[in-house]
Amino acid sequence: MQDLDAIVSEALALFAGIDDADQLEQAKARYLGKSGALTELLKGLGKLPSAERPAMGSRINAAKDKLETALKAQREKIQHRKLETKLAEEALDVTLPGRGLGLGGLHPVTRTMERIEALYRSLGFEVADGPEIETDYYNFTALNQPENHPARSMHDTFYLEDGKHLLRTHTSPIQIRYMENHRPPIKIIAPGRVYRVDSDATHSPMFHQVEGLWIDERITFADLKGVLVDFLKRFFERDDLKVRFRPSFFPFTEPSAEIDMSFGDGWLEMGGAGMVHPNVLRNVNIDPEQYQGFAFGLGPDRLTMLRYGVNDLRLFFENDLRFLKQFS
Ligand code: FA5
Repeated sequence: MQDLDAIVSEALALFAGIDDADQLEQAKARYLGKSGALTELLKGLGKLPSAERPAMGSRINAAKDKLETALKAQREKIQHRKLETKLAEEALDVTLPGRGLGLGGLHPVTRTMERIEALYRSLGFEVADGPEIETDYYNFTALNQPENHPARSMHDTFYLEDGKHLLRTHTSPIQIRYMENHRPPIKIIAPGRVYRVDSDATHSPMFHQVEGLWIDERITFADLKGVLVDFLKRFFERDDLKVRFRPSFFPFTEPSAEIDMSFGDGWLEMGGAGMVHPNVLRNVNIDPEQYQGFAFGLGPDRLTMLRYGVNDLRLFFENDLRFLKQFS
């Protein structure tokens, strides 16, 4: 039979070194369980001479109490430590810098549109607007575009099922809508989305245009050239910019030109322009003998391509964040 004092001091040392609740209960069983060391001692009491039994009995009980008290204290210690660890893990460090949400950025084409607006406003142009769903009259007829003009075909234009409406193919209908409600002098730009059955590296089915219109008594082609070249130089922040006016045809201007900019080995068309056709002015009851002026339609998506050196315009509309984040 083990010496009682030795058992007690062994048990106390063991309990004190345990920091896990389950292990502590297992350790308890070694002394106080069914066949634990102290239990065995109690069982052995019967074998002692009767005179020694009471004294030994109370010593064993005192030892049991001592172990129970030590166990209780150790359980509380373990509990307490567990709580402290949990608190430490969940602690908020209020001195850490905030994580914050990343700020969004403007789409590169939106940046271009804003830049165009700012530059034209500085030249005294106002900003006008018009609907994206148009009638055949505003998109074509009022713009002197004859019935059989190829741009009116199903291959080029998205028509709505009602057969009366279409997605505007250019921002030029805004010229008509504006001139119906305003008398010269008129000096506006009109930015917006337009739609065509088109898709390649320099053509997207949805794209943007910025219309320009300046009508007064003495506006000439020289003004058109001055305004556009000045705009492009300021937009690209380059005085040595290579811009070309190439003779062209639009039913709503006479004479007409395409404006090209050098791009790689060749040229990229940035817009169309010309002197507003007298028939267009007549359609909105402006006397072409008294008033004249110019109009242009620029392609801001292409301006954005050139400004940022992007070689496929469709990238702007795929909404791949890895691409878009490079501009913000
Ligand atoms: C027009 O749309 C005429 N309304 C422009 C105009 C206005 C002429 C006023 C005279 C007076 P055009 O089809 O060339 O013209 O288009 C103008 C510009 O829009 C093009 O130079 C090009 O920069 C851009 N553009 C045309 N189609 C697309 C497309 N699918 N994707 C991206 N940009 C395009």
